[in-house]
Parts: sequence; C-alpha cells; structure tokens
Amino acid sequence: MNSKGYVLVTGGAGYIGSHTFVELVKAGYTPVILDDFRNSNRIVIEGLRRITDTEPIIAEVDVCSADVRDLFKTYSFAGIIHFAAYKAVGESVKEPLKYYKNNIGGLVNILLLAEEFKVRSFVFSSSCTVYGEPGDVKEVDEHMPVAKANSPYGNTKIIGEQIITDLYQTNPEFRMMSLRYFNPIGAHPSGEIGEYPIGRPNNLLPFITQTAIGKQDSLTVFGNDYPTPDGTCIRDYIHVCDLAMAHVKALDYLIGLHEGCNEFVNVGTGKGTSVLELIKAFESMSAMKLNWAFGPRRAGDVTEIYANAERSRQLLKWNSTFTIEDAVRDAWRWEKNLAQHV
Ligand code: UD1
Repeated sequence: MNSKGYVLVTGGAGYIGSHTFVELVKAGYTPVILDDFRNSNRIVIEGLRRITDTEPIIAEVDVCSADVRDLFKTYSFAGIIHFAAYKAVGESVKEPLKYYKNNIGGLVNILLLAEEFKVRSFVFSSSCTVYGEPGDVKEVDEHMPVAKANSPYGNTKIIGEQIITDLYQTNPEFRMMSLRYFNPIGAHPSGEIGEYPIGRPNNLLPFITQTAIGKQDSLTVFGNDYPTPDGTCIRDYIHVCDLAMAHVKALDYLIGLHEGCNEFVNVGTGKGTSVLELIKAFESMSAMKLNWAFGPRRAGDVTEIYANAERSRQLLKWNSTFTIEDAVRDAWRWEKNLAQHV
C-alpha cells in the first residue's frame, strides 16, 4: 500500500475515474477501483498499468450491490471518490428510473457503508448542470442558487448534493465535497487512456475526433443563432488531467481537516470557449479540415456558462494548467491510439 492509504474510487475505470486513478497513485495513495465495466472498457486497465507501473486493484461489483460491503471489510479506506453514475442527458429523459436507481441508489449504498465503516472523507462527482440556465450571469460561482433540473440526469446531481447535505446535518463529522465539473475534455498525454464513449457520442470533442477518424460521417453544430460572438454555445472546457488533479487536492484537503465540512466547489478554468473555437483548435492542431455543418439547436442547451474558479484556487490551491490546444491534441492522440486497439 502507498503511504497515504487506500482510496475507494467508484467508477474508477471510467473517463474521469481512470485519470484520477493515475493522479492518486502519483500523489501516494493506493486507489481501489470499483467498476463493473458496464460503461467502460478493460483496455483502460492496460493503460493504467503502463502509465503507473502498478497493478490496479479492481473490484468488479455493481455500485448498488450488497457486495460492496466486502470491500469496506477488506480495506480501511482513507477516503472515497464517488464517480460511478450514468451521464447521458437524453437517455435519462427516456429512462429516468434507470438513472435514479443507479445514480441515487449507488450514492446511498456507498454513503451507508461510509457511515457504518466511519470513512469520513467523501468526494462527490457533481456537475455545473446544477446551475441550469444561468440567464444573464455567465460566470457562475458556488453561491448561485441551484436551479430546477432540466433532465433526470441533472436531477440526480441535485438530489445527490441534497442527500449529502442531509447526511452531513446529522453526521457533522463527515468531510464532504461536491465537485461541480464544467466540461471535461482531452485525455492523458501518454495516449494510453481517454474517453471511451459507448455508442454514438453525445459530447462535442469525442464527436469531433470520431468524425476526424471516420467513425462518424460529419459533425452537426447545434445552433448558430445564439447570442454569442460567433452564434454558437460557450462552455468551460477543462482538461481531464486537471480535473483529476482537483480530486486529489480535494481528498488531501478533506483528509487534512480536523472537523467536518460540506463544501461545493466548481472545477473549471474560468474561461469560455465556443463550439466553433473548439473545432478551429482541433483543425489547426491536426492540420485537418473537419466535416461539419450547422444544424438546429439541441433542446436543453444552455447558451453560455463558465466557472468562477476562485473557490477551488483558495480552498484547494488548485488551478488548471492545460490549455484547449493541449486537450484537443491529447484527445486526438487517444482517438488514434484507440483505433489501433478496437
Ligand atoms: C452535457 C450535459 C451536462 C453534462 C455533460 C456531461 C446537456 C444539456 N448537458 O454538457 O449536463 O454534465 O454533458 O459531460 O446535455 N455540440 C454540438 N454538436 C455535437 C455535440 C455537442 O454542437 O455533436 C455542442 C452542444 O450544443 C454544446 C457544446 O457542444 O453547445 C457542448 O456539448 P456537450 O459536450 O454535450 O456538453 P454540455 O451540453 O455542455
């Protein structure tokens, strides 16, 4: 075991989970992955082996199952990072119960065990989706009110934060942190791990790289009449390795506390990028001309949102370090690497 102790990483074979695994090992923790690979691929594990030069500990268990208890009996966890959840907005509208069962059921299962086994430090994967359509305010900080969810997926993040808050009320010794991610993109610079969308990607950058490599015929840019400088939506894209590092900082912070807390922290760069700007960044990095065309707006899209990143700087001493150019380069390297494997 590494010196800083075992950390339970639910969804550790997933996109953000796997990158966090790498940063945890680098920081001296021993991550224990809980993942049943329903939404991830085993080739990620080979990548983790190569990057970290360690044999990942993996428990192939459903996050909602009673068997998760065995893990808590086997390992004395210093903390928990809870990623395991579904995240496709459109699918959640069609199959809401699937989302509530997995995202809420999984969270409650893990929290019950955290309570029973007195694992106090807990990091929750939340999302900037909790802010909804921020209206005139584009730069959102953590004091902004949580909006009404516009999808069951978004609702699972809002309810998740509420469950954590309710638990903290009665168990103030818990050290809780909900990280509100903006738009994670990119891949590990080694090209060994990255995002592995199952089926047709919903998110922008995987769609760009899949179009470039020929898995998709063309990219549709959803809307060109938004009130933004180039008419396309603006998001705060954050490199997944920066996001992974924020989890390590969050865990270090929580474990170092002498009393309980319940914090909500934005994880973004503080900078907005439009859809067209991201496409241009990809084209100039790869020297390729992407096949794309404008299409109608996508229902539920927010015009413009980016993080006020002050709180993460102050509390976690964390700052993003990678650029958009780094992210498109790394995502492209990963896409090309993936093409050789699958
Ligand atoms: C989406 C979810 C968000 C979730 C996140 C998970 C919605 C409304 N929001 O964020 O709740 O936390 O994914 O990663 O679904 N775009 C195109 N063409 C495409 C794909 C995307 O033009 O083929 C545009 C979208 O309209 C948007 C931008 O790219 O303006 C980013 O889209 P996406 O990557 O799906 O992220 P979000 O919608 O911001």
